Amino acid sequence: MRTGSGQADDLPAAGQQAEPAISSPFATTRLVAWHGDLAAWLDRLGWLRTLSDWLTAVLGPVRERHQDNLALELLHGGRWVGHPLHPALSDLPIGLWAGVMVLDATDRDPAPRRGIDAAGMLSAAGILAAGATALTGLSDWTVSNDQDRRVGLFHGLLNTVALGLQGASLGTRMAGHRGTARALGAASLTVTAAAGYLGGHLVFTKGVMVSRVAWAIGPRRWTRALPEADLPDDSPAAVEAESRQIMLYRHRGRLYAIDNICSHAGGLLSRGPVADLTVTCPLHGSRFALADGCVRRGPASQPQPVLPTRIRNGWIEVRGSQPAPRRPASGRTQP
Ligand code: FES
Repeated sequence: MRTGSGQADDLPAAGQQAEPAISSPFATTRLVAWHGDLAAWLDRLGWLRTLSDWLTAVLGPVRERHQDNLALELLHGGRWVGHPLHPALSDLPIGLWAGVMVLDATDRDPAPRRGIDAAGMLSAAGILAAGATALTGLSDWTVSNDQDRRVGLFHGLLNTVALGLQGASLGTRMAGHRGTARALGAASLTVTAAAGYLGGHLVFTKGVMVSRVAWAIGPRRWTRALPEADLPDDSPAAVEAESRQIMLYRHRGRLYAIDNICSHAGGLLSRGPVADLTVTCPLHGSRFALADGCVRRGPASQPQPVLPTRIRNGWIEVRGSQPAPRRPASGRTQP
């Protein structure tokens, strides 16, 4: 046990390793590491940094002003949906615009036609869906961090280009220039795929909007966390028990223990204010009830795990998840 530093960034960067030496540009290492190089290259683009900082300065205060707005929380998905909305919505324009390509490829009537055909309907529906997807993406972008924010901005810019190309495709299609419309539609889908790849990088490589407490289970046994005398009433304390960061809080003699790493993006809850037994994350303002960890305000969509506590020999002890009880072949749970 040791008292935590209260800084999520202090965690050892598990999985981070020194860059491997590359002997040849055609070495296998180079061929399979291009995605990491791409993200690093994007992060070095000066104009992207400038644009990201400028947008952050403009949108950040707006978001903070409207943090309690239900519509804003719904754009994240949040507690109402249980996971982020943006990845689910993003399937719509991709699927609809892929449908446009299939219809175009199987269309055996090359004669120019004005107006909107079935492919045009799909294209228009995809444009509407892309608008809604962009809103949710922008909302998530405002609560992302550092490099993720810059890669996310590039992802959004690519999607904006794709949307413009698809709009031009729809316009030329309705004007009867179907060959041009098909070429623009194909270009739009290609750019969308590139943007989608970066979106996948953000989620699967960087863990953006992925629950940071999904694997929080320990300690398996009652473990000393803090001398009881060191926890005054109504003052959060950051502690660590078997590598798990925990926030302790006592109010009118009752103890609360909650995972200290915010499920949204890893902010340290012990650094946030507590009011009405609800802690507010200092990073993006998610709120969690101390009693049961439930989300009282997004952008977090996952509740914060709570831990049982007890006092033994002057120490506050905590315990994490217990192994599931073994079931014998008879189906009855063993005591
Ligand atoms: S880290 Fe984003 S709300 Fe806590």
